[in-house]
Amino acid sequence: MLQLVYISTATPGQPSNAIDTILAASRRNNARDAITGLLYADGKRFLQALEGPEAAVEAAYARIKADPRHRAAVILSRRTIDAREFGEWDMAYRAPGNDAAGFMSRISLLARDASPSVRATFESFAETRRAA
Ligand SMILES: Cc1cc2nc3c(=O)[nH]c(=O)nc-3n(C[C@H](O)[C@H](O)[C@H](O)COP(=O)(O)O)c2cc1C
Repeated sequence: MLQLVYISTATPGQPSNAIDTILAASRRNNARDAITGLLYADGKRFLQALEGPEAAVEAAYARIKADPRHRAAVILSRRTIDAREFGEWDMAYRAPGNDAAGFMSRISLLARDASPSVRATFESFAETRRAA
């Protein structure tokens, strides 16, 4: 199986429910394609892990990368994994003004089975974005 982690920047000026639309398509497609992972979103940045059969993950990433709702997608990590590190498909969305401590513990919980480096990527990203 392949696991990809990328980071990107949200395109400004999107409707406030943009994230709901992204999540609905992700849940539907990822269930169909046996993809699991985690999407971090705070309205400005995305950090996403995708894992599953190699061809399915590559195809999903190609679709996602071309999506005009974000830009400047950069792959942070590409690894072959023997077992899934994210049991299901999940999203952690932090709305402006949301409790930072609660959000941090949610990220830690969702990434608890990820490899130390992938977990650290999510935790330090959320920490850096705390005040953003
Ligand atoms: C930040 C971001 C993350 C996304 N994550 C996924 C995803 O995990 N799976 C997925 O199928 N589509 C994801 N999408 C949506 C895809 O870009 C694309 O719109 C969708 O796969 C098209 O699916 P459809 O043909 O079923 O409408 C994401 C889009 C953005 C902007």
